[in-house]
Amino acid sequence: MNALVQDVDKRAPEVQGRGTTLESLKQWVDQVAALARPAAIHWCDGSDAENAALVAKMEADGTLIRLNEETNPGSWLHRSHPDDVARVEHLTFVCTSEQDDAGPNNHWMSPADGHAQMDSLFEGCMEGRTMYVIPYCMGPIDSPISRCGVEITDSPYVVANMRIMTRMGEAALQRIEREGTFVRGLHSTGELDPNRRFIMHFPEELTIKSYGSGYGGNALLGKKCHALRIASHQARQEGWLAEHMLILGIENPQGETHYVAAAFPSACGKTNLAMLIPPEGYREKGWKVWTIGDDICWMRPGPDGRLYAINPEAGFFGVAPGTSAKSNPNALATIAKNTIFTNVGVTADDGPWWEGLDDGQPVTDWRGNAYDAANGPAAHPNARFTVSAKQCPSYSEHAEDPTGVPISAIVFGGRRASLVPLVFEARDWTHGVLVGAAMGSETTAAATGAVGVMRRDPMAMKPFCGYNFADYFAHWLSFDNGRNKLPKVFHVNWFRKGDDGKFLWPGFGDNLRVLEWMIGRVEGRADAVETPIGALPREQDLDLEGVQLSGEAREKLFGFDRDGWRAELVSIGDYLREYGPRMPQALHDEQARIAASLD
Ligand code: GDP
Ligand code: PGA
Ligand code: MN
Repeated sequence: MNALVQDVDKRAPEVQGRGTTLESLKQWVDQVAALARPAAIHWCDGSDAENAALVAKMEADGTLIRLNEETNPGSWLHRSHPDDVARVEHLTFVCTSEQDDAGPNNHWMSPADGHAQMDSLFEGCMEGRTMYVIPYCMGPIDSPISRCGVEITDSPYVVANMRIMTRMGEAALQRIEREGTFVRGLHSTGELDPNRRFIMHFPEELTIKSYGSGYGGNALLGKKCHALRIASHQARQEGWLAEHMLILGIENPQGETHYVAAAFPSACGKTNLAMLIPPEGYREKGWKVWTIGDDICWMRPGPDGRLYAINPEAGFFGVAPGTSAKSNPNALATIAKNTIFTNVGVTADDGPWWEGLDDGQPVTDWRGNAYDAANGPAAHPNARFTVSAKQCPSYSEHAEDPTGVPISAIVFGGRRASLVPLVFEARDWTHGVLVGAAMGSETTAAATGAVGVMRRDPMAMKPFCGYNFADYFAHWLSFDNGRNKLPKVFHVNWFRKGDDGKFLWPGFGDNLRVLEWMIGRVEGRADAVETPIGALPREQDLDLEGVQLSGEAREKLFGFDRDGWRAELVSIGDYLREYGPRMPQALHDEQARIAASLD
């Protein structure tokens, strides 16, 4: 290497933007720059001008492809690397000093080994390119429940997505400079080599390091990494809950609104339920559903002892396939403009296309090849849209309330083709925690690996709880302290199948019938029958006017299969024991009580 080149290598990177007055942030950014050696450091201010410049750069280099300006104004297509289309749970680690603190529910590495492994990947990885510093706030800027972070990335695609998904830029930086604390997230897309891809969390240091993927859940560090894995650890220490839940408001014809938080695993219906449009009959009577959030919920007891929830996100990162005028018209309206589509197909007139969309024909598939049904679907099954929540017609006027909204009911649910009825209610909080802890669901395309395999996914947090599940359940149980006025807990299953393999419940808008029953239970109006697994509605306890259900559907949706549940309770007992002595005795006792009452 000649002297001149060496000189250029050592030159301090060009700094774009105002930098920061916060010494700890400045030091960390300098440290990262010394390791990754970018040519420039860009401090993101979140402005329209900044976004326009980034988008223009991405259009020029092919990262973003412009869609039809007339039918999809301000919207873009991004095609990811074909091996980088979902979260990678086998490459996701929680690095705590004690392995037991991460628990059997997480892959573990010691913090020292984790840092060494990641830092060797980051070494020189941004040479010749720009390093973006993204200050962001999870939750409304002025909410005491919100928490801030800074993501450093070499991906302009990540910057554009973080701008939609979080409150990003100057206002967040000002809050960070005031508070002095923030979660540190370091990301590089790297070579997109699945063998050089890791997502590591250091909860004790409020730090995330992610390398080798540009996919949402792996790369938009505010989302699953911060708002769930790191935040769940913080929430335990500070007495609140960071959950994988949608939040919606149900307004009855009298104008009263109840708020519900629901935990379903990835690609099991959170976005759809959060944007539900009431079915015929309900609409005319004046029922309305308001969207607060579709993926993450932070909640804590308020002065009156009720749980108050905020959505820490500012946008939706939703599954495109299956989104249609019939299934989710609110989502379709939301993504009509200013949307980034990732891995969808394209029509002849440059419109986005995916399986389940009502009209149009794909000419190009998600890989960019001419569409041929023989090569599989036009859109990747985990194709996504990124869009601001403000564009959603059902976005609640209370979604930005700094105090959050009071939660009346917590709902757990998963994909269960057999056994689990449409809905049941837990007896009390402890039973509710067991129902959440015992949640099972069939795997989906949201993570790499086999699809349709039943696994335990407690509270839909299996991939996202940043610490030992046994401690997490104990934390949940601790909310029943005599002072809190806790919500009722329910379990739903929209995915029960008949002998022909088809779904027995119409789902989508008709799920409001189930939500109405829950609200009726909360208000002490609706009826149910007590069974060992909880309180189940009879058919006549739900408003099923206009719903066609076969005899098989009625039996399976509203029935309770004693023998099947005996086997399920044995399996739940086995699962709890996997956590050893850290598992709270109260959950073993609850499992034993239900198992005994089944005999
Ligand atoms: P999320 O990842 O949890 O937000 O899940 P989505 O709401 O994006 O839904 C994932 C998939 O489940 C999509 O293909 C939906 O069409 C489908 N889905 C959502 N709700 C229902 C429902 O009530 N019934 C059925 N059968 N499918 C649903
Ligand atoms: P979701 O999460 O599937 O729960 O919407 C997004 C992700 O998997 O990154
Ligand atoms: Mn979703």
